[in-house]
Amino acid sequence: MSHIRIFDTTLRDGEQTPGVALNTAQKIEIARQLARLNVDVIEAGFPITSAGDFEAVQRIAREVRGPIVCALARTARPDIERAGQAIEPAEAGRIHVFTSGSKIHLEHMLRKTEDEVVEATIDSLRYAREFTDDVQFSAQDCTRSEFDFLVRLYRAASEAGATTLNVPDTVGYGMPDEYGGLVRALIAALPPSEGLHFSTHCHDDLGLAVANSLAAVGAGATQIECTLNGIGERAGNASLEEVVMALETRKDFWGHQTRIDTRELYRASRMVSMFTGVSVPPNKAVVGDNAFAHESGIHQDGVIKALETYEIMSAETVGRDAGVLVMGKHSGRRAFRKTLGDLGYEGLDDDTVNALFRQFKDLCDRKRNVTSDDIRALVDSETARVAETYVLEAVQFQSGTRMTPVATVRLVSDAGTMEEAATGDGPVDAVYHALERIAQVPLVLESYEIRSVGSGKDALGEVTVRMVSDGRTVHGRGLSTDVVEASARAYVDVLNKLAAGVGRERNPVATP
Ligand code: KIV
Ligand code: ZN
Repeated sequence: MSHIRIFDTTLRDGEQTPGVALNTAQKIEIARQLARLNVDVIEAGFPITSAGDFEAVQRIAREVRGPIVCALARTARPDIERAGQAIEPAEAGRIHVFTSGSKIHLEHMLRKTEDEVVEATIDSLRYAREFTDDVQFSAQDCTRSEFDFLVRLYRAASEAGATTLNVPDTVGYGMPDEYGGLVRALIAALPPSEGLHFSTHCHDDLGLAVANSLAAVGAGATQIECTLNGIGERAGNASLEEVVMALETRKDFWGHQTRIDTRELYRASRMVSMFTGVSVPPNKAVVGDNAFAHESGIHQDGVIKALETYEIMSAETVGRDAGVLVMGKHSGRRAFRKTLGDLGYEGLDDDTVNALFRQFKDLCDRKRNVTSDDIRALVDSETARVAETYVLEAVQFQSGTRMTPVATVRLVSDAGTMEEAATGDGPVDAVYHALERIAQVPLVLESYEIRSVGSGKDALGEVTVRMVSDGRTVHGRGLSTDVVEASARAYVDVLNKLAAGVGRERNPVATP
């Protein structure tokens, strides 16, 4: 069986998801999880775009071992130099140089002739090879490009030193047969070269990113670019967990394998969702809440008799256990640390473990069965936390039939204790009005979502909000057995992120 390389671009294309901004600590944490997953390549960022991006790529290159660490660059020497410097400390580093291939992009965006694009490509790739022997080339918008120009451009790229040729469907326009056909035709049109890899990069505008990526593999591509949970520009990218499980579950069909440790998929998905604030739809393949849930009586009867009646892969294979009771009220700190290790959370510092232990004890007082899912939710939320300028000290509310909901909220900060009361259309609305009064920051609530972690009346509620303040979009998350308190925590998380300068401005520096 041949090996398909998994090139993860969660930290680069995924970070271009509208409203998402990860800080360096979160990027490093995700990169470590990508290393546990055993991806072949981590595209860690686009160093020329900001000092923060440069620092994140450099720290990942320095601190994360295993995968190749890749940095993105346009066909411009300053970009390549920055990318080269950022990956310098890596065990193995790659520079990914991109331009555009379609007339639409050349005329309206690059404002360059075909000759100029080819020339800049040759110069850039030769320059990139001065920093590393591992250089990847992409021309955006391949699916709307003229084939003859693509052949000329990719041939020049390969001759100038590119070792991977990536064929982006930047706008998610291709159909599986068509895109597979394009990759097959490009492979056939270029002179064979030892060690040269062809790669896919598919966007999901028509919901075909995974199908297109697999079609390209069928046509001879040996690398798939993808993101966890399929996040990315607009409708996102091919989802890593889906392409991996399609290749794994249907090895008989594809005859290929990846090196991914599939038992790390669920944890990776949760981490990305928690850090980005982009929640996973319940019906999402592989990692959605319902992906292994059986609702109809006939299905339930079937899986009780034999799992394979309605399951083509097991929940355990992708790292989802049954969420069984792992610990209780009387468990001590040492046992708690061991449980964290068993769940894969190693290397947490003492302060974090102590904070988690306190939250675990609180949870035991509120919830009868504390499951591994609950503990994962606590860890994800704790590691996503930014420095707390505001601490939610108390939230109280009254609500019911034929009464106006009213809430009182108390926050503590270095400036002292602040308390406000307000009414609203419902208890959450009343709490948010009270918080608005305390914070005095203009905030527009763009989205509010609630999900339960596990099941049962006492399940933890997880609230995710997206808010905009002065053109800055910030995601917040809150966790509690009380959904109104979880809502308040999500709002306070946003206030803390704004205070810490986290959040992405609308329309920042142009990125691909
Ligand atoms: O979608 C795209 O074309 C890209 C390139 C930079 C590979 O993200
Ligand atoms: Zn892309």
